[in-house]
Order: sequence, then structure tokens, then C-alpha cells
Amino acid sequence: MTLKLVLQDKTPVGGRIAQFTFTAADGSPLPGYTAGAHLDFDLGAAGIRSYSLVDFTPPGDAQAAYTIAVQREEDGQGGSVAMHALEAGAEVTATAPKNDFELRDGDAPVLLIAGGIGVTPIISFAAELDRRGTEFAAHYCTRSEALSTFGAQLSDAYGDRVSLWFDDSKPADLKGLIEGATAGTQIYCCGPKGMIEAVREIAAAAGIDHDHVHFELFASPASHEGDQPFEVEIADTGEVYVIPADKTIVEVLEEAGVDVMYDCQRGDCGICQCDVVSGEPDHRDVVLSEAERAEGNIMQICVSRANSARLVLDI
Ligand code: FES
Repeated sequence: MTLKLVLQDKTPVGGRIAQFTFTAADGSPLPGYTAGAHLDFDLGAAGIRSYSLVDFTPPGDAQAAYTIAVQREEDGQGGSVAMHALEAGAEVTATAPKNDFELRDGDAPVLLIAGGIGVTPIISFAAELDRRGTEFAAHYCTRSEALSTFGAQLSDAYGDRVSLWFDDSKPADLKGLIEGATAGTQIYCCGPKGMIEAVREIAAAAGIDHDHVHFELFASPASHEGDQPFEVEIADTGEVYVIPADKTIVEVLEEAGVDVMYDCQRGDCGICQCDVVSGEPDHRDVVLSEAERAEGNIMQICVSRANSARLVLDI
């Protein structure tokens, strides 16, 4: 479902972050959502960009408005700059809320870990867990205290269930937090790739079940310096496409009219995964385990590239 939204309010909330509130352009109620949901905005030349809904009250059925918080990234892919350029009254289209990062049911304790602007779904989780009466601890990590944009609000709302950590003065001990969690704890992490990889590795080393660790990547995959073009051959048809250094496989195939499935375009949802018939993928996602990467039989084509001149893919 596509929604026509109008920007009612844009408020700077600290650092490079602004909070945006949208209502339906025709004034009707908006579809409800669950904690962790996001909207995919169509930002024209900047493409389709996903932003999590942020809510200090538990979300639910029909909503009067949607709120997101966006950090302006000058060297990103243009989505945040396009969003920050909007002024009140601007109309945009977006999908209805989708949720690839849902809280599980059950009364197991929950450990929430947020890095930077990745705090937005974690705020909605805290509100929902508080409503459910589920035991939780939320850890919000930022580079400095000045960048802890939502820290005071989180602490006011959830008291000592919230811990604030600052890389420059009071860094989080992720290993201690994860290893110290009660057996059966469900872990949810949203932040940059390095944080998610660290959480996954620590949890795996601690013997925590893979099913108890959930994550959402909160950054668009920046292209790497030195990225080279490579070819993708579609196994079924033999058609070959050149993937330039500044485009993803998904972008090239979609522009060429090939039907590809994808959602997050960050390498964390797994929807674009496809089989690798031959060639060596350069994995850049956070979905696959180390063993799956080493096998090289599957890849996420929204972010991953190639270490060989050509990949033959089953799409
Ligand atoms: S679209 Fe989500 S991992 Fe590729």
C-alpha cells in the first residue's frame, strides 16, 4: 500500500538529527504498526529510503501521525539530505509500515542495544516492553554525551532500565553486557555494522542461541574505496550485466527490468538473498554466518559485490 503523506513538523533534536512528523495528505487515519516498524519513503532522485518509526508510547492500531528521526549524513546516499531538505507542508509518498524487526512474544527478559541513530526502533521497543510488563534493559551507545540525543528522554521514561554509554568517556562493555544476560534473554541490537557484528560474535562465542539475537543495520552500505566493476550472469537466461563500482547488483538489475526481490537495501533483512552458481562473492551483509560466507553458495545482492570478475547467480 502506498501512502500520501504531508510533513507537519520538522524539529531539530540535537546533533545532525531532526524529528519529522507526517500525517495523511487527506487527513484520514494512518495504518497502525508494531514496535520496530519502518516506512519506505520515495525520495525521488535519492531513491527509496527506510526510516524506523519512533514512538515513546506503545504503537498500535490506526495512527493520527507517524514520527521518524533522521540523522543527516553528508557522505551517505542522499536519502537523509533529501529528507532534511523537506519543509513543513511538503508531500511525500511512502509505503504503509513494514516490520522486519519485530519483538517476539513471550516473557523472556530482553536486552536492547542501540548505537547512534539506531536508537529509534529501540525507543519503540522500550515503550512496548514497558506496556507488556516484560523485564528489559536498554543500552544506548553514542560517540559522546553531547550526541546522546534521546538519552535524557529515555532515562526519564524508563529510569534505571536505561544505561547511556559514550565512546569517548564511558564506553559500553558489550561483552560484559551480553555475557551477563540471564539465560534465555532475547537480544535486539540496532546500530552500525561494526556494532552488530560485535554483538553477533560475542553472542555466538557465549553460546547464545542464534534465534535469541535480532538485529537491524542502521546505515546504508557505503561503497568501499577501490570497488571495481564486475559482471553478473543470470544462470537461467545467460544474460550478463556489468555492475559498476558505484551501483549495487539490485540497482543494476532493476534498472534493466529484471524482477528482483529486496527490501532493506542495507544487507540486514535477507530478502534479496540468492544462490551463487559460480564466482566468489564479496559479502557485505550482516545476515550470513561466517560458515555461510565461507561456503559462498548464497549472497545478499543489495550490498554484496564480487571478488571474481563474474558471478553467475540463480535469480
Ligand atoms: S534487501 Fe535486505 S538484505 Fe538485501
